[in-house]
Amino acid sequence: MKTIAVYPGSFDPITNGHLDIIERGVKMFDELIVLVAFNPKKPALFTVTERQEMIHGVITSQLGAEGGRIRVDSYSGLLINYAQDNNAGIILRGLRAVSDFEYEFQMALMNRKMSREVETVFLMTGYKWFYTASNMIKEAASFGGSVSGLVPESVEKELLKKYAEKREDVCL
Ligand code: PNS
Repeated sequence: MKTIAVYPGSFDPITNGHLDIIERGVKMFDELIVLVAFNPKKPALFTVTERQEMIHGVITSQLGAEGGRIRVDSYSGLLINYAQDNNAGIILRGLRAVSDFEYEFQMALMNRKMSREVETVFLMTGYKWFYTASNMIKEAASFGGSVSGLVPESVEKELLKKYAEKREDVCL
């Protein structure tokens, strides 16, 4: 039986920390679905399609043959339903510094309450990305700060473009 894992997140946008989890996760499972999911607590900067395209582009350009076992998808409903409908027995999440723990623990327990057939597996984020969070990256980029090295180059370009568009909207 194939082991299918789903790696859900807002990915607004994908960071090098996410990419690290994808690269390591794909080695552990037969198939990895990177899922742009809906987090009602986070207003998004990029559209779902833009986020999917960025993830797809990064996987295609930065991962070798292993990229062939990765699927990028999006979903606006309950994660556990998506996992079950797609025969994914694993939810993969990255764990950064202590601040992530409580939220991740609650989410894993809630998902486990809804289905005991789906296990949440955590990978410790690589030490270089311990403090890399999309929110911080967006805040820095919105004020013109450099986020080079924290996100793939293609994503950095998209961030610059997005904030330039926003500034234009304000000026008009
Ligand atoms: O990258 P994020 O924002 O920390 O990811 C959180 C996400 C999108 C995985 C989470 O909000 C989610 O699972 N959303 C889908 C709705 C759902 O199933 N919520 C969990 C109920 S506990």
